[in-house]
Amino acid sequence: MTRSRHFSHAFIFDLDGVLTDTARQHLAAWGALARMLQLPFDAAMEEQLRGLSRMDSLEHVLGPAAGRFSAERKQALAEHKNAAYVDAIAGLTPADLLPGALAALQAVRAGGWGLALASASRNAPTVLARLGVAPLFDHVVDPASVAHGKPAPDIFLAAAQALNVAPAHCVGIEDAAAGIQAIRGAGMFAVGIGSPQVLRGADLVLPDLLGLQPGLYLR
Ligand code: BG6
Ligand code: MG
Repeated sequence: MTRSRHFSHAFIFDLDGVLTDTARQHLAAWGALARMLQLPFDAAMEEQLRGLSRMDSLEHVLGPAAGRFSAERKQALAEHKNAAYVDAIAGLTPADLLPGALAALQAVRAGGWGLALASASRNAPTVLARLGVAPLFDHVVDPASVAHGKPAPDIFLAAAQALNVAPAHCVGIEDAAAGIQAIRGAGMFAVGIGSPQVLRGADLVLPDLLGLQPGLYLR
């Protein structure tokens, strides 16, 4: 769905780990899969998985063992992980928006700027609806429609194109190193949410959305 209006600028948000803490449930489900397969899974791996598509994440979790699994078995493992994740997010409500998230989205709307979601998650429409913020968005990119997942810039470029805003006039907001790389690759201003050590390439890193001042980042 795209609400068509003319926007001078646009804000393109990631979902998991930015608007809500579902990055935690994704990582817990991958951790459980790794344990089931008796594969290593540590904190460094968690950071590397943030933002990656389901199948890219699976390859990462399998690591050097990936070659031992057939395409069918990989599909089944990805579905197993997704079933655990879908269970874990069944009870999401608007109370699960992270601090500052609703105010940040409302500030973008109040400014008359475009608002899009660029999440790698195929569960994103469900999560947005449960959080009660789906109607605020002008466009939600379908991750299945882009050729390359994050860290490639495709999903952010698709969002900008849908809103008809030049990438240089867009601001991307991300919690993942892969996402920051994607935003920078798209030629957009990159706001990182999290740790400056992890999100090194960002133009600006904030601990959370409470400090977001959308009007300050426009070029
Ligand atoms: C991203 C998450 O938003 O979506 C990743 O950061 C996840 O952890 C990816 O793997 C894909 O999600 P899904 O719901 O399509 O498996
Ligand atoms: Mg994220």
